[in-house]
Amino acid sequence: MKISIVYVSQTGNTEAVAEYIQDGILAKYPFIQVKLMDIRENEMDMEFLEQSNAVIFGAPVYFTSMSWELKKWFDHSFKVNLNGKLGAAFVTAQSPAGGTDTAIMEILRHMLLKGMLVSSGRGKKTANNFQIGAVGLAGNLEQCSEQFEIFGECVAQTAVELFG
Ligand SMILES: Cc1cc2nc3c(=O)[nH]c(=O)nc-3n(C[C@H](O)[C@H](O)[C@H](O)COP(=O)(O)O)c2cc1C
Repeated sequence: MKISIVYVSQTGNTEAVAEYIQDGILAKYPFIQVKLMDIRENEMDMEFLEQSNAVIFGAPVYFTSMSWELKKWFDHSFKVNLNGKLGAAFVTAQSPAGGTDTAIMEILRHMLLKGMLVSSGRGKKTANNFQIGAVGLAGNLEQCSEQFEIFGECVAQTAVELFG
């Protein structure tokens, strides 16, 4: 099984969360191949992406929206087939009231448009704080690392249940 984590990060916060999510997946499901793909660094591996059972998208919040780089990737990737894959979203922001929910919902909307199945990443047996996707706040990421790891574990658990 393969899981892609596709993200944008200018100052490192979203990248840190992406790494915690990867750690959470691998801690519980070491047989899953996880690949981090930083859009700004041109790290997209389209073959791995299209082979992935789940794709987790992450972006900084810019003016209450997903950052323009991820929006641009979605806009330019209309031919990329993600139909039937599991999707989940995470964002980082300065403030919890800074548009985190709207940015996550935008990402989830793009997943729905691509025919993806959407996971909130909420805990089942284990608890995390997230309702519709993971949220990281600048300056508070390390303290919340366990939350991001649980998010990754929960998305992976759903992927394993769905795709074996
Ligand atoms: C152009 C710009 C717009 C931003 N807009 C918001 C915003 O609307 N709400 C918020 O909470 N934070 C906002 N931020 C803060 C970033 O979302 C936050 O610092 C984020 O963690 C940066 O992620 P990165 O380190 O991965 O680049 C903005 C930052 C920039 C540069």
